[in-house]
Amino acid sequence: MSPATNATPRSFPEGFLWGTATASYQIEGAAFEDGRIPSIWDTFSRTPGKVLNGDTGDIACDHYHRVDADLDLLAELGVEAYRFSIAWPRVITADGAVNDKGVAFYKNLVAGLKARNIKPVVTLYHWDLPQHLEDNGGWVVRSTVDAFEAYVKVVVDALGADVYQWITLNEPWCATWLGYAIGVHAPGLTDLGKAVAAHHHMMLGHGRAVNAIKAVVPDAQVGITLNLAALRPMSDNEEDMAAYRRFDGNQNRIYLDPLFKGSYPQDMLDHYAPQSPGFSVIQDGDLEVIAAPCDFLGINFYSPGMIGGKGREDVARSMGYNIFPGEPNPFGDDMGGIGPSNPRHKTTAMGWEIDARGLNELLTRVSNEYTKLPIVITENGMACHDYVNQLGQVHDADRIEYINQHLSACLDALDAGVNLAGYFVWSFMDNYEWALGYGRRFGVTWVDFDTQRRIPKDSFYWYQNVIRTNEVPYLTPDQQH
Ligand code: FCB
Repeated sequence: MSPATNATPRSFPEGFLWGTATASYQIEGAAFEDGRIPSIWDTFSRTPGKVLNGDTGDIACDHYHRVDADLDLLAELGVEAYRFSIAWPRVITADGAVNDKGVAFYKNLVAGLKARNIKPVVTLYHWDLPQHLEDNGGWVVRSTVDAFEAYVKVVVDALGADVYQWITLNEPWCATWLGYAIGVHAPGLTDLGKAVAAHHHMMLGHGRAVNAIKAVVPDAQVGITLNLAALRPMSDNEEDMAAYRRFDGNQNRIYLDPLFKGSYPQDMLDHYAPQSPGFSVIQDGDLEVIAAPCDFLGINFYSPGMIGGKGREDVARSMGYNIFPGEPNPFGDDMGGIGPSNPRHKTTAMGWEIDARGLNELLTRVSNEYTKLPIVITENGMACHDYVNQLGQVHDADRIEYINQHLSACLDALDAGVNLAGYFVWSFMDNYEWALGYGRRFGVTWVDFDTQRRIPKDSFYWYQNVIRTNEVPYLTPDQQH
C-alpha cells in the first residue's frame, strides 16, 4: 500500500509537540569514561547468551563524543523536543557522591538543545540501574528507591528549570517483568515474587521523583512513560476473557490504577498474594506517594496483541492465529498467551504485528477510564530491514508508512476528544536494541557502527516535512493496518 496522494492531508492541532527519542545506554557508549560506573546492562550484555551476538553498549553510537554533531542533525530534523535519558551510573559514584563530569555532559547537552531551540525532555530512568545497587537487591529492596530519589535530586539541582518535561521512569513494565520475572532483560532474574516487589518499588520511585522535582521546580511538567498494551480478547469465551483480564491487569491496570485511582487492582493483589516478597513490601503511605499528581502521561506504543485463554492454542491455530505462552509467565502459568490479533497483518523486523488502530483504541480507553491529562506518545516507530544502497541512501518506505499510520491513529484519537499533546518517534538514530544488540534498526537516521557515520534515511526527510507542515498524508481507516 502507498499513502493516498490525491486526498487532502490531515492537520495536527496548533502547538502539537513534535519530537524524537533515545536512551542513554542505547546511544552514548563511553561506558567506562569520566567516572561512569557499571550498570546492570553492562553486566547483562556481558553474560553469555543474553544478548544477540554478545553486543554491548560500550561504544553504541558513540554519542558521548559526538554530541555536538548529533545535536546539529537533530536541528536539521526540525524537532521541537528531544527526549533523552540520563545515565544514573554516570551521575552518581558508587559511594553516592556526585560525579561532576557526568553532570557536565548533561548540562552541556541541555545547553546545546536550548541553543538550537529544541526543548529537552528528560527521562530519569531508562533501565541502566547502577550494578552495585542491583548487587544489594536492586528494585526488589526499598533502599534502591531512596537511592533513586537522591539521584533525582542531584539531576534536578543541576538541570532544574531548563528541562521542558520530566519523565520519571521509562516502561517500568519492561524493567520489572522482563528484567525480574522473565529474565530476558537486565538484571536477568526469573523470580515472580521479586518482580512484584520491584514493580511496587519502581512505582514508589516514580512518586518520590515527582515530589522531589516539584520541591525544587514547583511548575515543572512531570510524567511517567508506560508501555500500555492494546489488548484484544480472542473471543468472548470464558477462558479467553479471564486471560484477557489477567493480561490487562498486569500490563495496564497495575500501573494506571495506582497512578490515577490511588490503589492497586484487587484482582492483581489477589493474584500475586502467594508471591514472596511480592506486595508485602507495600508500606503505609506508599500509595499516596505513587498517586502524586502528574502533569502528563507518556505512552509508548508499537503493536497491539491478542489474548487467548489456557488450552485455546489449538482453537487459535484453527482460526489462523498463533498465541505464544510466556514461560515463566508473569500473568500466571494457568493463563493462555499473547499473539498477533490478525495473522494477515504485516509485521516489523521485530516480528511485531502492525495495526495502528490499536493505538487509537488504547488512547481512547485511557482517556475514558483514567485521565484527561495531556497524553504524549513518547515512543513509536518501527524496526525495518534497512540497508544503504549504492547511492548511499536508505529507502525505508515501510517505516514511513508505519509512522503515517500511527500519526493517523493519533488524529483519530484527537477527533474522538483524546487530549493528545505530542508525538516522539523512536528513534532519532539506529542504536543498541537491548537483548537484540545492533541487530535491529529503529532510527530515522542510519548509523554505521564501524565508522559512526550517520545517514538520514528517507523517513528522516519525511518526518522533517511532517513537522514543518504539521500535517500527514491522508490514509483511509483500512490503510491503518
Ligand atoms: C521500548 C524501549 C526503547 C526501545 C524500543 C524499541 O520498549 O523503551 O528503549 O528499545 O522499545
